[in-house]
Amino acid sequence: MIDLFSEVAKFCDLTIPDSHKVPIAIIGAGGIVDGAHLPAYKKAGLQVVGITDVDLSKAAEVAARHGIATVYKDVDELLADPTAQVIDIAVPAVAQPDIFLKVAGAGRNILAQKPMATTVADGVRMADAVAANKIVAAVNHQLRFEEGMAAAHKMVELGWVGTVTNMTFHVNLITPWELWPWAKDLERLEVMLHSIHYHDVVRWFLGEPNTVFCAAGRTKDQYPKGETRTISTYLFDQGVTALVHANHINRGGDNYAEYRIDGDKGSIRGTMGLLYDYPVGRVDTLEVNSQVAGTDGWTPYPVTTRWFPDAFMGTMGSVMGAIATGAPLRSSVADTVGTLKLVAALYESMDSGLAVKL
Ligand SMILES: NC(=O)c1ccc[n+]([C@@H]2O[C@H](COP(=O)([O-])OP(=O)(O)OC[C@H]3O[C@@H](n4cnc5c(N)ncnc54)[C@H](O)[C@@H]3O)[C@@H](O)[C@H]2O)c1
Repeated sequence: MIDLFSEVAKFCDLTIPDSHKVPIAIIGAGGIVDGAHLPAYKKAGLQVVGITDVDLSKAAEVAARHGIATVYKDVDELLADPTAQVIDIAVPAVAQPDIFLKVAGAGRNILAQKPMATTVADGVRMADAVAANKIVAAVNHQLRFEEGMAAAHKMVELGWVGTVTNMTFHVNLITPWELWPWAKDLERLEVMLHSIHYHDVVRWFLGEPNTVFCAAGRTKDQYPKGETRTISTYLFDQGVTALVHANHINRGGDNYAEYRIDGDKGSIRGTMGLLYDYPVGRVDTLEVNSQVAGTDGWTPYPVTTRWFPDAFMGTMGSVMGAIATGAPLRSSVADTVGTLKLVAALYESMDSGLAVKL
């Protein structure tokens, strides 16, 4: 059985070869950089040469704690230093397109945070800038690199569940929205900031849907203004279906975050440990029951790394691999425009109460 999993484990390997490693500079010194980007880069043996933030005292504090030599006073000063070969942007989405376009215009390679932008039009402008400036640019949709999810994707690719018929996410959490004060008054919250990970992954597994529907709600006395409960359904060719159900005001205290992929020859089921106690988390689980691989019923795949911070090595490693070898990106800016279109369709459905054709 261990041998059976070797090809899957190879696909999930997050090791960045030394020959691919290039210096990084970071724009944004917030919670996700402090808690996930920098720990992942340290684990991968990557060098961060400098950082900036509109809040320079925050940049200085994060730089001191993580041993980053330079605090740039702004993006212009960062771009004037040619040392970094990847510019890692991690600011709220509303601020990201302008910064992205400036960095792309300077011909520098980029890893941008999700959501890449809040509108499809901005996303298209960013993708056009990548093409015009011939840079490598990806979006930090790192759930595509999370070990359990990546293993599930490889199992599907190997045909272990046959033809996929359905994919579901069920997430029921008490999410600490207070961590993101800038998100408190956002009208568009849950799909835009959280479920976008699952919607992006559904696209990665199943491609573009024909029709989507989304219902959303808010819960009495919730901290943020925007929607905190969403149920999204998808219809693909040949009757293939998907469902993403996420609730962030679970007052029952029993957080869970599960996903499942069914096919005509087997099924895969997993949990995303991070969300059971965000951002500390616990180990993920993954099990497969396959007539093709000949598992003896439900068989566990040993997940040995975590979404936070490990999967952040994957997104950065993918950018560095593309720079070094021209290998395709797993979550390119061009591909992510499709995720923004999907998010826009889900909000259109939410607003109209109708299913939306893509
Ligand atoms: N799984 C994930 O990939 C994940 C998880 C959490 C957050 N995020 C995303 O990462 C981004 C940052 O989130 P966070 O949790 O670090 O938020 P945060 O509020 O902790 O930090 C945001 C930082 O950006 C800085 N900033 C704002 N505008 C700026 C500008 N114009 N130039 C330079 N710096 C600027 C702020 O001063 C702040 O330090 C958001 O887009 C969020 O959606 C992604």
